[in-house]
Amino acid sequence: MKEIKKIACIGAGYVGGPTMSVIAQKNPHLTVTVVDLNQMRIDAWNSSDLDKLPIYEPGLSSVVSEARGRNLFFSTDVEKAIDEADMIFISVNTPTKTYGKGKGQAADLKYIELCARQIAKIAKTDKIIVEKSTLPVRTAESLKGILDNTGNGVNFDILSNPEFLAEGTAIADLHQPDRVLIGGENSEAIESLVNIYESWVPRERILTTNLWSSELSKLVANAFLAQRVSSINAISELCEQTGANIDEVARAIGQDSRIGSKFLKASVGFGGSCFQKDILNLVYIARSYNLNVVADYWEQVITLNDHQKSRFAENIIQTMYNTVNGKKIAFLGWAFKKDTNDTRESAAIYVADYLLDEEANVVVYDPKVSAEQIYKDLDYLGSRTSEENRRLVKVVDNYFEAINGAHAVAVLTEWDEFKQLDWKNIKLNMQLPAFIFDGRNVLEHLDLAELGFLYKGIGKQ
Ligand code: NAD
Ligand code: UGA
Repeated sequence: MKEIKKIACIGAGYVGGPTMSVIAQKNPHLTVTVVDLNQMRIDAWNSSDLDKLPIYEPGLSSVVSEARGRNLFFSTDVEKAIDEADMIFISVNTPTKTYGKGKGQAADLKYIELCARQIAKIAKTDKIIVEKSTLPVRTAESLKGILDNTGNGVNFDILSNPEFLAEGTAIADLHQPDRVLIGGENSEAIESLVNIYESWVPRERILTTNLWSSELSKLVANAFLAQRVSSINAISELCEQTGANIDEVARAIGQDSRIGSKFLKASVGFGGSCFQKDILNLVYIARSYNLNVVADYWEQVITLNDHQKSRFAENIIQTMYNTVNGKKIAFLGWAFKKDTNDTRESAAIYVADYLLDEEANVVVYDPKVSAEQIYKDLDYLGSRTSEENRRLVKVVDNYFEAINGAHAVAVLTEWDEFKQLDWKNIKLNMQLPAFIFDGRNVLEHLDLAELGFLYKGIGKQ
């Protein structure tokens, strides 16, 4: 087994930052350097004010404060980190391609390739390269080709070590993972990485496989999770027609240990940077092998999710007497789930876009998302000019300002604080009839109908 003393991680994002912080926390004998091209991000990781870390994750600041400066470092000096490291994690973004072949489906591997070329150019000693980013199956083959053909004759061992953390619970997921997956060909390299995780993860939870199983398992895990959300959301629409209650159905089926209770929460639709991207990638890969039935099958998970988002928006319009023109609609939440400031692919963006097309006035309150980010998300869609987005959408920093005088409240993120609001007082300050559209079914226990609201949840009449 090769002894590892120094680790570099390229990419200081939602995965690289927390993952390396925990590896450093649990392995004080290793030096871990996380590098990124983005100076602002690195400055934020180095900020003495722990509230200013670039991502919000419960528990992250205490892990960072324990390890940073001791054996955890954040830097923009990518070359130095590569040069000194025995093991290099690649944790850069792998978004859906927006151009050329595979546009809208395939993973864009340009950042991965840039990393590989840079590593090849700099490395003067043997290195273990770890794929931490989510990648199409057989990417390790391309990586190896680039490293071996453009390198300085040193040896590169490639491992696949996909990350399964979920945002909002990243630190808990990293501290107690269901499993750690390591794929590779060289057993010594595999053991070097196993050894790092064994500092805190029980050995029986560290699975080792061949490279291709590991790469593919990551895409499949996300596809299965997203499929469960789309499955329950499909049934939510049927519940609304039949008088069945989606939460009761979820409980009834989830108690069957073969089905299990997790990931059966009906919602306005899944978001996040990965579910859609990874399924599209899986669909693309299946089609590239001419497996069209397989591709069509998985594509339906996305189709249903898109349907769920537009269905929620249409329901708001229809319920509010078929027009939202000029009406104030308060959005509670913008993040794609609670306990994160991440808004990538959040359902809120698409619901807002739909309502803005109908000239609604949307006022957003989210405890962790900035106004700048919200406007950026809407501008990115390109549905209207940024001036128009700023005219129609207001972002406020407290819930009351959002709700005061509103015709309707739409809950887009399940932040815990929304359950504690003074709904009796809120009702007095809204236009009548006061509508609530609960895209997360988080308010139903409050008996809002009793308070005089017209309340609509997901998957119930
Ligand atoms: P991110 O966009 O938050 O971070 C990626 C970082 O890489 C950015 O800061 C970017 O500046 C940096 N970068 C890109 N190219 C670079 C280069 N050549 N040199 C130095 N830095 C470079 O992305 P993320 O959410 O952390 O996701 C990273 C990967 O992990 C993706 O493949 C994603 O699918 C996967 N993943 C994400 C999550 C999640 O919860 N976000 C969970 C599991 C897996
Ligand atoms: C997901 C996976 O859970 C992680 O294992 C994986 O590492 C990660 O993707 C990734 O590869 O990026 P994440 O997207 O952070 O993690 O969050 P999830 O908890 O999976 O939620 C995803 C979306 O599904 C959210 O919008 C959430 O609100 C929605 N969801 C989830 C539901 O609508 N219902 C559910 O029952 C569960």
